[in-house]
Amino acid sequence: MTDGGRCEVRPAPQQEKVDKGRRRFLWVTGGLGLAWLGLSAYPVYRYIAPRPAPDPFGKEGRAAVNKVAPADVAAPGSGANGSYGQRGCIVFRTTQGELRAFDSKCTHAGCNVNFAGDRISCHCHGGVYDFEGKNVAGPPPRPLTPLSVFEENGVLYVAPAEKKQEV
Ligand code: FES
Repeated sequence: MTDGGRCEVRPAPQQEKVDKGRRRFLWVTGGLGLAWLGLSAYPVYRYIAPRPAPDPFGKEGRAAVNKVAPADVAAPGSGANGSYGQRGCIVFRTTQGELRAFDSKCTHAGCNVNFAGDRISCHCHGGVYDFEGKNVAGPPPRPLTPLSVFEENGVLYVAPAEKKQEV
């Protein structure tokens, strides 16, 4: 056929039908392939994606301190490292007799700090905190996370510092 001097080539009606069928097949298989890819990738994403840490205080809003008994911190100036949930903590009694606790995760690079009698120290890079949890020497950029601590039926518990409970 000619259209103003140009030659137009039209596919045969049979060929057009075949092309439509092919296109539809490609769209359907492409869509199914994408859906399959999405469904397959989701479990991998769930495995790789970071999950929020579980609340160490649980529904009760408090957690038992492991490895530190009330007797371990009965004397003024005594202290010990323990744990609550899956986290570390230090519990100590000041020379004035006040029971205190901090999360033991150093604010520099996350090592566990230790109660060292006259200070709280981090062995990784020499960080030092005072008994208020304040960073006083070395690289730690922030104070330790304070915890409230109390004894109940011979067990020490810690809770978020905002929920202060009496000892
Ligand atoms: S991790 Fe504690 S001072 Fe570096």
